[in-house]
Amino acid sequence: MRQVLDELQRRRARAEAGGGEQRIAAQHARGKLTARERIDLLLDEGSFEEFDMLVEHRSTAFGMDKTKIPGDGVVTGWGTINGRTVFVFSKDFTVFGGSLSEAHAGKITKVQDLALKMRAPIIGLYDAGGARIQEGVAALGGYAEVFRRNVEASGVIPQISVIMGPCAGGDVYSPAMTDFIVMVRDTSYMFVTGPDVVKTVTNETVTAEELGGARIHTTKSSIADVAFDNDLEALLQVRRLVDFLPANNTDGPPQWPSFDDVARGTASLETLVPENPNKPYDIKEAIEKIVDEGDIFEIQGAFAKNIVTAFARIDGRTIGVVANQPMVLAGVLDSDASRKAARFVRFCDAFEIPILTFVDVPGFLPGTAQEQGGLIKHGAKLLFAYAQCTVPLVTIITRKAFGGAYDVMASKHIGADVNYAWPTAQIAVMGAKGAVEIIFRKDVGDADKITELTRDYEARFLSPFVAAERGYVDEVIMPRDTRRLVARTLAMLRAKKSERPWRKHDNIPL
Ligand code: HXC
Repeated sequence: MRQVLDELQRRRARAEAGGGEQRIAAQHARGKLTARERIDLLLDEGSFEEFDMLVEHRSTAFGMDKTKIPGDGVVTGWGTINGRTVFVFSKDFTVFGGSLSEAHAGKITKVQDLALKMRAPIIGLYDAGGARIQEGVAALGGYAEVFRRNVEASGVIPQISVIMGPCAGGDVYSPAMTDFIVMVRDTSYMFVTGPDVVKTVTNETVTAEELGGARIHTTKSSIADVAFDNDLEALLQVRRLVDFLPANNTDGPPQWPSFDDVARGTASLETLVPENPNKPYDIKEAIEKIVDEGDIFEIQGAFAKNIVTAFARIDGRTIGVVANQPMVLAGVLDSDASRKAARFVRFCDAFEIPILTFVDVPGFLPGTAQEQGGLIKHGAKLLFAYAQCTVPLVTIITRKAFGGAYDVMASKHIGADVNYAWPTAQIAVMGAKGAVEIIFRKDVGDADKITELTRDYEARFLSPFVAAERGYVDEVIMPRDTRRLVARTLAMLRAKKSERPWRKHDNIPL
């Protein structure tokens, strides 16, 4: 027994040492933590239970039979975040660059299978160079097994990927199929092929940062949802994100204690919307004043800033917030904003998270760049996403709800349950001046007449009342009552049942 215990100790110590002191020092010198240090920060203290610590690869080519490290470049297991079970795998860059062998893949698929069986979230911490090159097709097959499980779990359990080092190949494709990608600034990169391959194939010289750094992926490609300054901050923020998410697609949002009175008035919102309809204001101020403790977790906050997508809570339960942002491009809907919001809406719907939508939108963005870039299809994604929702949808029109964008932004007609308008709401096909210049084109030279007609149009349409008279908004409300009403309405809608006809799956315009 003694001998076996000693042997176990020895093997464990070997696994815990990863790629060895030198490589760990290099990892630290780059400002990165090790795979195990990351898990310790992510999970509740002492809650991590490890699997497969002693697994080794089975390859023999290229001298690999002489280089075996127990654990084989990934630490896997489960633990808790604020008491709730999550499954985790953490790539160890110090062991073969975190690359994936057949055995390494088996460790990941084991926790993927368990996470799905237990209907609990899975979090992958990535710092790895993709399929292990020495293994060839065995590693490729291993990755495909991981990919298949990513897809199987999609819409059933939340999957979060945290990119914490240079990631290539399968180590970007697997994250791409998960729900959220978090990056670390200056130390993490995502690309299908790295700068060296780019140079060889296209003769283009590019840095890792330009090719796939956090700035590119959070502002331009929109592949990453959010980025933080270092490993510690990223992991603590992932804990925060997990607190907002349901464990799976049937449990519903978690209920946390809230010390913020649901009946609290929001009177200061009455001065938020400027009198001049062309003046911007910050919709995030409205969101923060309405939700519990002003606490929001923004998704894709650095991309398509003309729409805000964020998790928040009302009465301690998670909601998804989608809001046009008048501060950026007057809150117009363009291709990027439509895609961003569509993906968020679909996540919320898949995981039974009610959606609160704030509308102040002058319409879709006109122009060749948008049209040639597929605005019709991208706008249709958001329309489709809202129309297929079965979760409670509550909408507040704060100001402009113009044209097709009125329909798209969780209007009554596409299935929203309760639609409110502030007295400042303007619901029309378009702004008054544009409308008059089209209907009275022959009078455009007559400035007085155009001014008079514009005023007439404004009086007739640029108010919430025409829509309210038709029941398209359920009530015109005082901004001060918004939090109370949203809370009561969401509580009422908790029992919502919405059946859709059977289909294999829908055909959202991709
Ligand atoms: C085996 C690998 C490896 C890999 C890195 N290493 N990637 N070993 N297989 N895929 C090893 C290196 O040999 C090195 O070992 C150590 O990890 C650290 O790597 P460095 O190159 O020194 O680090 P760095 O300069 O930071 O560059 C990191 C990197 C780069 C950008 C990830 O290593 C890289 O480009 N690797 C190859 C990426 C790739 O093409 N992967 C295959 C993708 S195909 P030593 O012993 O020298 O320290 C794929 C299939 C999925 O993934 C298909 C998707 C659809």
